[in-house]
Amino acid sequence: GKGEYDHFMLKEIHEQPTALTQALEGRIDPENERIALSDLDPETFTDVESVQLIACGTSYHAALYGSLALNQAGIQSTALLANEYSVSAPPTDDDTLVIAVTQSGETADTLSALRQANAEGATTVTVTNVVGSTAAREADEAVFIRAGPEIGVAATKTFSSQAVMLTLLGQCIAAEQHGEPPADLGSLLPELATMPDMLDDLLVDSGADLIAEQYADSQSYFFIGRGLGFSVALEGALKFKEITYEHAEGFASGELKHGPLALVTPDTPVFAVFTGEEDEKTLKNAEEAQTRGAPVVAVCPDGHRAVDVADAHLEIPETEPALAGLLANVQLQLVSYYAADLLDRPIDKPRNLAKSVTVE
Ligand code: M6R
Repeated sequence: GKGEYDHFMLKEIHEQPTALTQALEGRIDPENERIALSDLDPETFTDVESVQLIACGTSYHAALYGSLALNQAGIQSTALLANEYSVSAPPTDDDTLVIAVTQSGETADTLSALRQANAEGATTVTVTNVVGSTAAREADEAVFIRAGPEIGVAATKTFSSQAVMLTLLGQCIAAEQHGEPPADLGSLLPELATMPDMLDDLLVDSGADLIAEQYADSQSYFFIGRGLGFSVALEGALKFKEITYEHAEGFASGELKHGPLALVTPDTPVFAVFTGEEDEKTLKNAEEAQTRGAPVVAVCPDGHRAVDVADAHLEIPETEPALAGLLANVQLQLVSYYAADLLDRPIDKPRNLAKSVTVE
């Protein structure tokens, strides 16, 4: 049941510290700078030269996050929409690793892309929440995110757990390719180990309810970010439109001035995600919207320069860029939730949507 919460979505947002603890259990050893993914055949990454991540919707945003984490770990990787795969997939061969990211393991689009990759001889892995799912059975290997059941149609805790597992996979593949663990593993693992505590702190007093109230009457909602923050901006907008039925769009911060800026008015709040990846540029991009009257909500740590410039602030704990985006994403989940609640939407079952999409 929903327990003390009004909706499954809010319960599942609050379950994220536990979900991440479960995802990391036995898999990271920060003291010895080691990752152990015992679910996988140790040979899985031996010949991998490039990685394709295939997914849809929120899982695609996790795949984008993961793909960037892989690129930053020195592995050539691309995130691809599973429903575009049959018409636009880059070539694969037996050095290509294809990772199907799917919470349910039953999404028709993703299964169809996975089958294509299998048929082309790629090594396939699925990152999924459901043991025994079709993806888990059909991929060569499966990594389970162990998030526990997600009932709300809006994916929340599974996004965070998928992104974290993909970050770990990236480090493992890089270690295999380069014969030694990536240099930043020593700082990443201890920060990862404290993620559940950082999330707990954030959830105690996020302030997202007040921000939702302040901007609930707006015409459109824009989300911007750079690097990992870009995938978070896309996910923030998807979550917002999905459960509030209000218009929302996510953009790469630098793209705002290449067209979308024409839409900006005092009635279109801009949520700017700061992950420590060229934040100065993102701040400039946000200020360009602010000059046209748009209120800017900065999602960043306290003491960040954006706090002084922005009209409002959603606080996240200070951490590595690899993890800041995930914390910012939780703040945006909460904003969407509270805005939808104010608008009296059926949060756990938005109109026209299904939890698992089993048709192409
Ligand atoms: O089960 P999957 O992760 O494969 O589902 C893919 C999408 O349908 C899903 O992520 C969808 O976008 C979310 N429920 C939206 O919140």
